[in-house]
Amino acid sequence: MWTRESIQQLIRDRLSDYLLVIVSNRQPYIHSFRKGQVVFQRGAGGVITALDPVMRACSGLWVAYGNGDADPLVTDRKGRVGVPPNNPSYTLKRVFLNKEDIDGYYYGYSNQAIWPLSHMAFQRPEFYKEHWDTYVEVNKKFAQAVLEEVENKKAFIFIQDYHLALLPKFLKESEKENLIVAHFWHIPWPSHETFRICPQKQEILDGLLYNDLLGFHIRHFCDNFLEAVDREMESRIDRERYAVIRGEQETLVRAFPISVDFEELNRISQTQEVEMAQKELTEEYNLNKYKIIIGLDRIDYTKGIPERLLAIDRLLEKYPRFKEKIIFIQMGEISRIHLSRYKMLNDQINSLVEEINWKHSTGKWRPVIMVRRHLDFSELIAFYKLASVCVVSSLHDGMNLVAKEFVSSRSDEDGVLVLSQFTGASRELDSALLINPYDRDDFADQLAKALTMAKKEREKRMRKLREVVARNNIYRWAGKIISELLKLEFEEGE
Ligand code: G6P
Repeated sequence: MWTRESIQQLIRDRLSDYLLVIVSNRQPYIHSFRKGQVVFQRGAGGVITALDPVMRACSGLWVAYGNGDADPLVTDRKGRVGVPPNNPSYTLKRVFLNKEDIDGYYYGYSNQAIWPLSHMAFQRPEFYKEHWDTYVEVNKKFAQAVLEEVENKKAFIFIQDYHLALLPKFLKESEKENLIVAHFWHIPWPSHETFRICPQKQEILDGLLYNDLLGFHIRHFCDNFLEAVDREMESRIDRERYAVIRGEQETLVRAFPISVDFEELNRISQTQEVEMAQKELTEEYNLNKYKIIIGLDRIDYTKGIPERLLAIDRLLEKYPRFKEKIIFIQMGEISRIHLSRYKMLNDQINSLVEEINWKHSTGKWRPVIMVRRHLDFSELIAFYKLASVCVVSSLHDGMNLVAKEFVSSRSDEDGVLVLSQFTGASRELDSALLINPYDRDDFADQLAKALTMAKKEREKRMRKLREVVARNNIYRWAGKIISELLKLEFEEGE
């Protein structure tokens, strides 16, 4: 079983002669001003959970966009700062971007072109030449930042996600032979029918094929990628080995399903702090007499939040016996709000909540609560524990870690996961109740089934889910990728 310690050991034993460099858009630590003081915060999300301990173990380098307002203040001339800030053990190098960069690279090409192109949520991607040009320039800035630090050291570079599709090319074009480059694509890779509309499809594929290793969450995305390469690029595909060969360069394409820190979530879920938070939230939202259904997402059109609200509406129409018995709590973090589509979605969610509450409310009871205030981590876990049902209804999702967090937090082996069949997670978590979020009636039926499921059945399913996540934890994800990288190095040396 992979643990934080075993991966740290692997790094110490095998990577000590190399520099390990991680490159991502989001940074692991952010410095900002609060009441005139500089404070720091650790970034959220699975990648940081997995890779922060890895970096600590090898004193590596993490290159990321410095988005905190106090970031420039604490970095040296080259954008570097030691992190974790209270006990530095590795270097964070910040790439500073101006407003035009962010508009073109982040809001523009990454999130108006690649994001909707990669997710089957029927949102039309928009391709603007200016966005693309900025995307290229920003990828070059990241490359420069990496190369500046690597110099002649032997280095493994591990790139994260769709913001940096061209980075492998710009790194390898520097003609440094001391670089081994891996890339993990955290979102789906679309079918070729979809991908082929992209005006920059060849440049994107070309950029990615400079990687030595390219990872996706599931095999299906690897297949889609190989299909795109087959149709668009001059290359040889070795289907047996899942490899693409172009001249001297070989790219291995592999599935590595990302996960969460099961042990840690499991531990936290049993702390007094979480127990206290459960009590306080029950009081704050008046939840005592009700069965709770929860949803927790970044507000994004891929997450199927309107579909979920409509399913709750249908549930109450079709099964009025649940009136005054259940409460659906949706927690949502505002995201990418400068894009009009995200703003529209947020407005749509607000009006749906309003309509559904108006339609079904009786006396003091309202079926939907939208939690807009910031929740700290123990409150999130407390909500997972308060829930009879957790709903993940993404229209399309590379993996979805909420599903895995919910399962990890249920040390009581209770609670039902209702999970979209269009998430990467549904491949592993097949003991959940799987739904099609577009099928409103069946979605409502599955919610009814979840709410009335016998305890024995709930426990049986939850136990299976927990076994899967405990085994395939986040350290396994990172460990498998690093082991694969190490194999590459050995082949070279033979
Ligand atoms: C997805 C992407 C990540 C991204 C995250 C949050 O999971 O794969 O790269 O960081 O969404 O989105 P944001 O745009 O806020 O970074």
